[in-house]
Amino acid sequence: PGHLISAADLSRDETVLILDTAEEMARVADRPIKKLPTLRGRTVVNLFFEDSTRTRISFEAAAKRLSADVINFSAKGSSVSKGESLKDTALTLEAMGADAVVIRHGASGAPYRLATSGWIDGAVVNAGDGTHEHPTQALLDAFTLRRRLVGADAGIGRDLAGRRVTIVGDVLHSRVARSNVLLLHTLGAQVTLVAPPTLVPIGVERWPCEVSYDLDRVLPDSDAVMMLRVQRERMNAAFFPTEREYARRYGLDGDRMGRMPGHAVVMHPGPMNRGMEITAEVADSGRCTAVEQVANGVSIRMAVLYLLLGGNEPAVTHPLPRTE
Ligand code: CP
Repeated sequence: PGHLISAADLSRDETVLILDTAEEMARVADRPIKKLPTLRGRTVVNLFFEDSTRTRISFEAAAKRLSADVINFSAKGSSVSKGESLKDTALTLEAMGADAVVIRHGASGAPYRLATSGWIDGAVVNAGDGTHEHPTQALLDAFTLRRRLVGADAGIGRDLAGRRVTIVGDVLHSRVARSNVLLLHTLGAQVTLVAPPTLVPIGVERWPCEVSYDLDRVLPDSDAVMMLRVQRERMNAAFFPTEREYARRYGLDGDRMGRMPGHAVVMHPGPMNRGMEITAEVADSGRCTAVEQVANGVSIRMAVLYLLLGGNEPAVTHPLPRTE
């Protein structure tokens, strides 16, 4: 099987194939019977070493809608808390016949290690690793953007060429930001990062995007503004501006949203810190796609599992690339 470890592994054509397949999957969700028999008899393991609400639930819903058997594993309450290694956990899953392992881990590189170790034969999907990547989040964000900015009937071959996406906030700790920059660039969008200087990663000049420290200047030229969660759990307080200072300079409130063009949308991957990077007024407005992003996440994860595990239906049978 192939694996999905990094947004960087996806070509434009492969990305568009996933987005188009997700459109087909979204149509299934509109039917009275939401299930496809495609992955009947296959087993998908959700292996979560870090907390998650959206990603874990949507991978489970996606696998079930494709009729796969689903095993949910979270490190809390497992033998990981007794010190069991990733290798021994993986060998246990292999013995249970996992066809795909969806892994979230606090260590950057853990999904790559799993995919290249030989411990398991199945497909590996990165559901977020440390501060590295979250490729299915970037795919669902691109899907949401394509629907909002290009149209629901985007059709085969449509990308985000020339669209301007501004990503704001704690870029330093954000796997969502890195995956989005890579994937949006692949789809032809122009990305600008806006962050406090202490929350910009070293080496960002090699990323395919612009960097700005002035949110108010960038907003009027944005087709979409993606607010990032401030990840206080990964942060040394000494490097962080006060909450009030952060909200004043980098938070999105109603006044700032008013500077955006009328067609522009506000995105947030969740979970949100309301009152910090985004006000309740903005989060609950019709311009914020946060809930839509969650719904789209099921369609994207159905598409990824379907393409990786090679469904029997004749719709699309193009595997994702191997990571090696
Ligand atoms: N966006 C996202 O990954 O959310 P969870 O941490 O709840 O999965």
